[in-house]
Amino acid sequence: MEHRKIGQNGSVSAIGLGCMGMSDLYGAADRKESIATIHEALEKGITLLDTGDFYGVGHNELLLSEALQGNKRENAFIAVKTGVLRSPGGGWIGMNNRPEAIKNNLAYTLQRLGVDYIDLYQPARVDPSVPIEETVGAIADMVKAGYVKHIGLSEANAETVRRAHTVHPISWLQIEYSLFSRGIEKEILPTLRELGISLSAYGVLSRGLLSGKWTKDRQGAPDFRSFAPRFMGENLDKNLTLVEALREIAEEKQCNVAQLAIAWVLSRGEDVIPLIGARKRTQLQDALAAVNLELSPSDIERIEAAVPAEAVAGTRYAADQMAILGVE
Ligand SMILES: NC(=O)c1ccc[n+]([C@@H]2O[C@H](COP(=O)([O-])OP(=O)(O)OC[C@H]3O[C@@H](n4cnc5c(N)ncnc54)[C@H](OP(=O)(O)O)[C@@H]3O)[C@@H](O)[C@H]2O)c1
Repeated sequence: MEHRKIGQNGSVSAIGLGCMGMSDLYGAADRKESIATIHEALEKGITLLDTGDFYGVGHNELLLSEALQGNKRENAFIAVKTGVLRSPGGGWIGMNNRPEAIKNNLAYTLQRLGVDYIDLYQPARVDPSVPIEETVGAIADMVKAGYVKHIGLSEANAETVRRAHTVHPISWLQIEYSLFSRGIEKEILPTLRELGISLSAYGVLSRGLLSGKWTKDRQGAPDFRSFAPRFMGENLDKNLTLVEALREIAEEKQCNVAQLAIAWVLSRGEDVIPLIGARKRTQLQDALAAVNLELSPSDIERIEAAVPAEAVAGTRYAADQMAILGVE
Protein backbone atom coordinates (compact mmCIF):
# COMPACT_ATOMS: atom_id res chain seq x y z
CA MET A 1 0.00 0.00 0.00
CA GLU A 2 1.32 3.41 -1.04
CA HIS A 3 1.56 6.04 1.73
CA ARG A 4 0.71 9.73 1.70
CA LYS A 5 2.10 12.52 3.84
CA ILE A 6 -0.09 14.32 6.34
CA GLY A 7 0.91 17.77 7.49
CA GLN A 8 4.61 18.37 8.11
CA ASN A 9 5.77 15.03 9.51
CA GLY A 10 3.04 12.37 9.34
CA SER A 11 2.28 9.53 6.97
CA VAL A 12 -0.77 7.31 6.46
CA SER A 13 -1.93 4.73 3.90
CA ALA A 14 -3.19 6.27 0.65
CA ILE A 15 -6.75 5.35 1.61
CA GLY A 16 -8.25 5.14 5.07
CA LEU A 17 -11.06 3.03 6.48
CA GLY A 18 -13.92 5.14 7.86
CA CYS A 19 -15.58 3.10 10.62
CA MET A 20 -18.67 5.26 11.31
CA GLY A 21 -21.13 3.10 9.37
CA MET A 22 -20.15 0.08 11.48
CA SER A 23 -21.93 1.69 14.45
CA ASP A 24 -24.20 4.45 13.25
CA LEU A 25 -26.17 6.29 10.58
CA TYR A 26 -26.39 3.69 7.81
CA GLY A 27 -28.67 1.08 9.38
CA ALA A 28 -27.75 -2.17 11.10
CA ALA A 29 -24.19 -3.44 10.72
CA ASP A 30 -22.86 -6.93 11.39
CA ARG A 31 -20.31 -6.82 14.25
CA LYS A 32 -18.33 -9.86 13.08
CA GLU A 33 -18.18 -8.58 9.52
CA SER A 34 -17.15 -5.11 10.75
CA ILE A 35 -14.23 -6.58 12.71
CA ALA A 36 -13.26 -8.82 9.79
CA THR A 37 -13.29 -5.71 7.56
CA ILE A 38 -10.97 -3.82 9.94
CA HIS A 39 -8.63 -6.84 10.12
CA GLU A 40 -8.52 -7.22 6.35
CA ALA A 41 -7.84 -3.49 5.96
CA LEU A 42 -4.83 -3.75 8.31
CA GLU A 43 -3.58 -6.91 6.57
CA LYS A 44 -3.72 -5.16 3.19
CA GLY A 45 -1.66 -2.24 4.50
CA ILE A 46 -4.34 0.30 5.40
CA THR A 47 -3.06 2.09 8.50
CA LEU A 48 -5.63 4.90 8.78
CA LEU A 49 -8.75 4.05 10.82
CA ASP A 50 -11.19 6.93 11.33
CA THR A 51 -13.68 7.04 14.19
CA GLY A 52 -15.51 9.44 16.51
CA ASP A 53 -16.34 9.17 20.22
CA PHE A 54 -19.98 9.91 19.35
CA TYR A 55 -20.31 7.28 16.57
CA GLY A 56 -22.85 4.94 18.11
CA VAL A 57 -22.31 6.82 21.42
CA GLY A 58 -18.98 5.07 22.13
CA HIS A 59 -19.89 1.87 20.26
CA ASN A 60 -17.47 2.57 17.42
CA GLU A 61 -14.46 3.09 19.70
CA LEU A 62 -15.27 -0.12 21.63
CA LEU A 63 -15.58 -2.00 18.33
CA LEU A 64 -12.22 -0.65 17.19
CA SER A 65 -10.64 -1.56 20.53
CA GLU A 66 -11.82 -5.16 20.08
CA ALA A 67 -10.56 -5.25 16.50
CA LEU A 68 -7.13 -3.95 17.55
CA GLN A 69 -6.49 -6.65 20.16
CA GLY A 70 -3.28 -8.65 19.71
CA ASN A 71 -0.70 -5.98 18.89
CA LYS A 72 -2.63 -4.64 15.91
CA ARG A 73 -2.62 -1.10 17.33
CA GLU A 74 1.08 -0.70 16.41
CA ASN A 75 0.20 -0.77 12.71
CA ALA A 76 -2.78 1.54 13.01
CA PHE A 77 -3.09 5.29 12.73
CA ILE A 78 -6.20 6.10 14.77
CA ALA A 79 -8.04 9.34 13.99
CA VAL A 80 -10.77 10.34 16.46
CA LYS A 81 -13.41 13.08 16.23
CA THR A 82 -14.98 14.65 19.29
CA GLY A 83 -17.21 17.47 20.50
CA VAL A 84 -20.62 16.25 19.28
CA LEU A 85 -23.14 15.61 22.06
CA ARG A 86 -25.55 12.67 22.11
CA SER A 87 -28.33 11.65 24.48
CA PRO A 88 -28.78 8.12 25.91
CA GLY A 89 -31.36 7.41 23.19
CA GLY A 90 -28.85 8.44 20.51
CA GLY A 91 -30.37 11.90 19.87
CA TRP A 92 -28.12 14.70 18.55
CA ILE A 93 -28.11 17.42 21.20
CA GLY A 94 -25.48 19.92 20.14
CA MET A 95 -21.74 20.34 20.55
CA ASN A 96 -19.18 21.36 23.13
CA ASN A 97 -15.61 22.17 22.11
CA ARG A 98 -14.63 23.92 25.34
CA PRO A 99 -11.08 23.02 26.42
CA GLU A 100 -12.18 21.12 29.54
CA ALA A 101 -14.74 19.11 27.54
CA ILE A 102 -12.14 18.21 24.90
CA LYS A 103 -9.66 16.99 27.56
CA ASN A 104 -12.40 15.06 29.37
CA ASN A 105 -13.54 13.39 26.13
CA LEU A 106 -9.98 12.41 25.27
CA ALA A 107 -9.57 10.73 28.67
CA TYR A 108 -12.65 8.56 28.03
CA THR A 109 -11.58 7.81 24.45
CA LEU A 110 -8.18 6.54 25.60
CA GLN A 111 -9.98 4.23 28.04
CA ARG A 112 -12.52 2.95 25.52
CA LEU A 113 -9.89 2.33 22.86
CA GLY A 114 -7.44 0.89 25.42
CA VAL A 115 -4.52 2.90 24.00
CA ASP A 116 -1.94 5.35 25.42
CA TYR A 117 -2.23 7.92 22.67
CA ILE A 118 -4.36 8.92 19.69
CA ASP A 119 -2.62 9.48 16.36
CA LEU A 120 -4.87 12.35 15.30
CA TYR A 121 -7.50 14.13 17.37
CA GLN A 122 -9.97 16.63 15.96
CA PRO A 123 -13.17 18.48 16.76
CA ALA A 124 -15.91 17.08 14.47
CA ARG A 125 -17.42 20.51 13.92
CA VAL A 126 -16.42 24.08 14.71
CA ASP A 127 -18.31 25.17 17.84
CA PRO A 128 -19.52 28.75 17.19
CA SER A 129 -19.53 29.47 20.92
CA VAL A 130 -15.84 28.58 21.47
CA PRO A 131 -12.96 30.34 19.67
CA ILE A 132 -11.07 27.77 17.58
CA GLU A 133 -7.83 28.94 19.24
CA GLU A 134 -9.12 27.64 22.60
CA THR A 135 -10.20 24.26 21.22
CA VAL A 136 -6.94 23.72 19.33
CA GLY A 137 -4.97 25.08 22.30
CA ALA A 138 -6.49 22.36 24.50
CA ILE A 139 -5.54 19.63 22.01
CA ALA A 140 -2.04 21.18 21.76
CA ASP A 141 -1.73 20.71 25.56
CA MET A 142 -2.58 17.04 24.99
CA VAL A 143 0.11 16.83 22.29
CA LYS A 144 2.66 18.21 24.77
CA ALA A 145 1.50 15.68 27.37
CA GLY A 146 1.99 12.83 24.86
CA TYR A 147 -1.65 11.77 24.51
CA VAL A 148 -2.08 13.03 20.93
CA LYS A 149 0.35 13.02 17.97
CA HIS A 150 -1.43 15.16 15.36
CA ILE A 151 -4.20 17.75 15.36
CA GLY A 152 -6.89 17.83 12.69
CA LEU A 153 -9.95 19.91 11.90
CA SER A 154 -13.21 18.82 10.35
CA GLU A 155 -15.69 20.81 8.26
CA ALA A 156 -13.95 24.12 9.01
CA ASN A 157 -13.78 27.04 6.56
CA ALA A 158 -10.55 28.53 5.22
CA GLU A 159 -10.39 31.34 7.75
CA THR A 160 -10.86 28.97 10.70
CA VAL A 161 -8.14 26.70 9.34
CA ARG A 162 -5.74 29.68 9.14
CA ARG A 163 -6.52 30.77 12.71
CA ALA A 164 -6.14 27.25 14.10
CA HIS A 165 -2.84 26.73 12.28
CA THR A 166 -1.29 29.70 14.10
CA VAL A 167 -1.91 27.96 17.46
CA HIS A 168 -0.49 24.56 16.49
CA PRO A 169 0.34 22.98 13.10
CA ILE A 170 -2.79 21.35 11.69
CA SER A 171 -2.04 18.05 9.92
CA TRP A 172 -5.27 17.68 7.97
CA LEU A 173 -8.69 19.06 7.34
CA GLN A 174 -11.36 16.37 7.10
CA ILE A 175 -14.19 17.43 4.83
CA GLU A 176 -16.60 15.93 2.32
CA TYR A 177 -15.04 15.70 -1.13
CA SER A 178 -16.19 13.61 -4.07
CA LEU A 179 -17.34 13.92 -7.66
CA PHE A 180 -20.67 14.98 -6.13
CA SER A 181 -19.21 17.48 -3.58
CA ARG A 182 -16.60 19.77 -5.07
CA GLY A 183 -17.31 22.91 -3.06
CA ILE A 184 -13.83 22.94 -1.46
CA GLU A 185 -11.96 23.41 -4.73
CA LYS A 186 -12.28 27.21 -4.94
CA GLU A 187 -11.01 28.39 -1.58
CA ILE A 188 -10.40 25.61 0.94
CA LEU A 189 -8.12 23.35 -1.10
CA PRO A 190 -5.82 26.22 -2.22
CA THR A 191 -5.62 27.41 1.42
CA LEU A 192 -4.65 23.93 2.62
CA ARG A 193 -1.96 23.73 -0.06
CA GLU A 194 -0.59 27.15 0.83
CA LEU A 195 -0.31 26.08 4.50
CA GLY A 196 1.00 22.53 3.87
CA ILE A 197 -2.11 20.90 5.37
CA SER A 198 -3.42 17.61 3.93
CA LEU A 199 -7.02 16.78 3.08
CA SER A 200 -8.86 13.83 4.61
CA ALA A 201 -11.73 13.36 2.15
CA TYR A 202 -14.92 11.73 3.41
CA GLY A 203 -18.16 10.86 1.62
CA VAL A 204 -16.03 9.83 -1.38
CA LEU A 205 -18.93 7.59 -2.47
CA SER A 206 -21.43 10.29 -1.52
CA ARG A 207 -22.59 7.95 1.25
CA GLY A 208 -23.29 5.12 -1.16
CA LEU A 209 -24.89 7.14 -3.96
CA LEU A 210 -21.70 6.95 -6.00
CA SER A 211 -21.24 3.23 -5.33
CA GLY A 212 -23.18 2.38 -8.51
CA LYS A 213 -25.24 0.01 -6.39
CA TRP A 214 -27.75 2.44 -4.90
CA THR A 215 -31.27 1.80 -6.17
CA LYS A 216 -34.50 3.75 -5.81
CA ASP A 217 -36.11 0.99 -3.79
CA ARG A 218 -33.62 1.70 -0.97
CA GLN A 219 -35.21 5.14 -0.59
CA GLY A 220 -36.82 5.50 2.82
CA ALA A 221 -34.52 3.05 4.62
CA PRO A 222 -34.36 4.20 8.25
CA ASP A 223 -30.92 5.81 8.20
CA PHE A 224 -29.14 9.14 7.57
CA ARG A 225 -29.88 8.81 3.89
CA SER A 226 -33.64 9.09 4.38
CA PHE A 227 -33.03 12.71 5.50
CA ALA A 228 -30.27 13.53 2.99
CA PRO A 229 -31.55 15.80 0.18
CA ARG A 230 -29.49 14.03 -2.49
CA PHE A 231 -31.32 10.77 -1.80
CA MET A 232 -34.80 12.25 -2.08
CA GLY A 233 -37.43 12.29 -4.87
CA GLU A 234 -36.43 14.08 -8.05
CA ASN A 235 -32.95 14.82 -6.70
CA LEU A 236 -32.30 11.09 -6.48
CA ASP A 237 -33.53 10.54 -10.05
CA LYS A 238 -31.17 13.24 -11.35
CA ASN A 239 -28.23 11.95 -9.32
CA LEU A 240 -28.75 8.35 -10.42
CA THR A 241 -28.68 9.54 -14.05
CA LEU A 242 -25.21 10.97 -13.38
CA VAL A 243 -24.16 7.63 -11.87
CA GLU A 244 -25.28 5.87 -15.07
CA ALA A 245 -23.07 8.20 -17.12
CA LEU A 246 -20.15 7.16 -14.90
CA ARG A 247 -21.05 3.50 -15.30
CA GLU A 248 -20.37 3.70 -19.06
CA ILE A 249 -16.85 4.97 -18.38
CA ALA A 250 -16.32 2.39 -15.63
CA GLU A 251 -17.33 -0.44 -17.97
CA GLU A 252 -14.80 0.73 -20.56
CA LYS A 253 -12.12 0.88 -17.85
CA GLN A 254 -13.17 -2.59 -16.64
CA CYS A 255 -13.84 -1.38 -13.14
CA ASN A 256 -16.99 -0.47 -11.23
CA VAL A 257 -18.48 2.95 -10.44
CA ALA A 258 -17.26 2.92 -6.81
CA GLN A 259 -13.69 2.30 -7.96
CA LEU A 260 -13.88 5.09 -10.52
CA ALA A 261 -15.21 7.52 -7.87
CA ILE A 262 -12.45 6.58 -5.39
CA ALA A 263 -9.72 6.73 -8.06
CA TRP A 264 -10.90 10.21 -9.07
CA VAL A 265 -10.45 11.48 -5.48
CA LEU A 266 -7.03 9.77 -5.27
CA SER A 267 -6.04 11.56 -8.48
CA ARG A 268 -6.65 15.01 -6.92
CA GLY A 269 -3.14 15.13 -5.44
CA GLU A 270 -0.70 13.39 -3.12
CA ASP A 271 -2.06 15.52 -0.27
CA VAL A 272 -5.57 14.06 -0.57
CA ILE A 273 -6.39 10.93 1.45
CA PRO A 274 -9.80 9.37 0.72
CA LEU A 275 -11.62 7.70 3.61
CA ILE A 276 -13.79 4.81 2.50
CA GLY A 277 -16.85 3.91 4.56
CA ALA A 278 -16.66 0.17 3.81
CA ARG A 279 -18.72 -1.92 6.22
CA LYS A 280 -18.10 -5.25 4.52
CA ARG A 281 -15.00 -6.97 3.15
CA THR A 282 -16.48 -6.96 -0.38
CA GLN A 283 -16.79 -3.16 -0.23
CA LEU A 284 -13.24 -2.88 1.11
CA GLN A 285 -11.93 -4.99 -1.77
CA ASP A 286 -13.42 -2.51 -4.25
CA ALA A 287 -11.60 0.30 -2.51
CA LEU A 288 -8.28 -1.57 -2.43
CA ALA A 289 -8.50 -2.21 -6.17
CA ALA A 290 -9.19 1.50 -6.76
CA VAL A 291 -5.72 2.38 -5.38
CA ASN A 292 -4.15 0.73 -8.44
CA LEU A 293 -6.59 2.13 -10.97
CA GLU A 294 -4.77 4.55 -13.28
CA LEU A 295 -6.76 7.45 -14.71
CA SER A 296 -5.31 9.25 -17.72
CA PRO A 297 -5.91 12.99 -18.25
CA SER A 298 -8.55 12.08 -20.85
CA ASP A 299 -10.27 9.69 -18.39
CA ILE A 300 -10.41 12.54 -15.85
CA GLU A 301 -11.83 14.89 -18.47
CA ARG A 302 -14.56 12.39 -19.38
CA ILE A 303 -15.40 11.65 -15.74
CA GLU A 304 -15.76 15.35 -14.92
CA ALA A 305 -17.85 15.93 -18.06
CA ALA A 306 -20.13 13.05 -17.04
CA VAL A 307 -20.68 14.64 -13.61
CA PRO A 308 -20.57 18.44 -13.93
CA ALA A 309 -20.44 19.83 -10.37
CA GLU A 310 -23.52 21.96 -10.95
CA ALA A 311 -25.60 18.99 -12.18
CA VAL A 312 -25.64 17.31 -8.75
CA ALA A 313 -29.10 17.77 -7.22
CA GLY A 314 -29.56 18.57 -3.54
CA THR A 315 -27.28 19.73 -0.74
CA ARG A 316 -25.03 17.26 1.06
CA TYR A 317 -26.84 17.65 4.40
CA ALA A 318 -30.34 18.78 5.41
CA ALA A 319 -30.72 22.55 5.96
CA ASP A 320 -30.22 22.57 9.77
CA GLN A 321 -26.92 20.72 9.43
CA MET A 322 -25.78 22.78 6.43
CA ALA A 323 -26.07 25.86 8.64
CA ILE A 324 -23.19 24.73 10.89
CA LEU A 325 -20.77 23.76 8.11
CA GLY A 326 -17.87 25.89 6.94
CA VAL A 327 -18.54 25.21 3.25
CA GLU A 328 -21.47 24.08 1.07
N1 LIG B 1 -15.80 14.69 9.46
C1 LIG B 1 -17.07 14.45 9.21
O1 LIG B 1 -17.93 15.33 9.36
C2 LIG B 1 -17.48 13.10 8.70
C3 LIG B 1 -18.80 12.92 8.25
C4 LIG B 1 -19.15 11.66 7.76
C5 LIG B 1 -18.20 10.65 7.70
N2 LIG B 1 -16.94 10.85 8.17
C6 LIG B 1 -15.93 9.77 8.16
O2 LIG B 1 -15.71 9.37 6.83
C7 LIG B 1 -15.95 7.97 6.68
C8 LIG B 1 -16.51 7.69 5.30
O3 LIG B 1 -17.73 8.43 5.14
P1 LIG B 1 -19.05 7.77 4.65
O4 LIG B 1 -19.13 6.41 5.27
O5 LIG B 1 -20.15 8.71 4.86
O6 LIG B 1 -18.80 7.74 3.12
P2 LIG B 1 -18.89 6.85 1.86
O7 LIG B 1 -17.70 6.00 1.77
O8 LIG B 1 -19.19 7.83 0.79
O9 LIG B 1 -20.22 5.97 2.02
C9 LIG B 1 -20.26 4.80 2.76
C10 LIG B 1 -21.42 3.94 2.31
O10 LIG B 1 -21.28 3.63 0.94
C11 LIG B 1 -21.60 2.26 0.70
N3 LIG B 1 -20.39 1.61 0.16
C12 LIG B 1 -19.12 1.71 0.58
N4 LIG B 1 -18.29 0.99 -0.22
C13 LIG B 1 -19.08 0.45 -1.15
C14 LIG B 1 -18.81 -0.37 -2.27
N5 LIG B 1 -17.59 -0.77 -2.59
N6 LIG B 1 -19.84 -0.74 -3.03
C15 LIG B 1 -21.08 -0.35 -2.72
N7 LIG B 1 -21.40 0.44 -1.67
C16 LIG B 1 -20.40 0.84 -0.91
C17 LIG B 1 -22.01 1.66 2.03
O11 LIG B 1 -23.41 1.68 2.13
P3 LIG B 1 -24.25 0.38 2.49
O12 LIG B 1 -23.36 -0.50 3.32
O13 LIG B 1 -25.44 0.87 3.20
O14 LIG B 1 -24.58 -0.24 1.18
C18 LIG B 1 -21.41 2.61 3.03
O15 LIG B 1 -22.15 2.67 4.22
C19 LIG B 1 -16.89 7.62 7.82
O16 LIG B 1 -16.84 6.25 8.15
C20 LIG B 1 -16.36 8.52 8.92
O17 LIG B 1 -15.24 7.91 9.54
C21 LIG B 1 -16.57 12.07 8.63
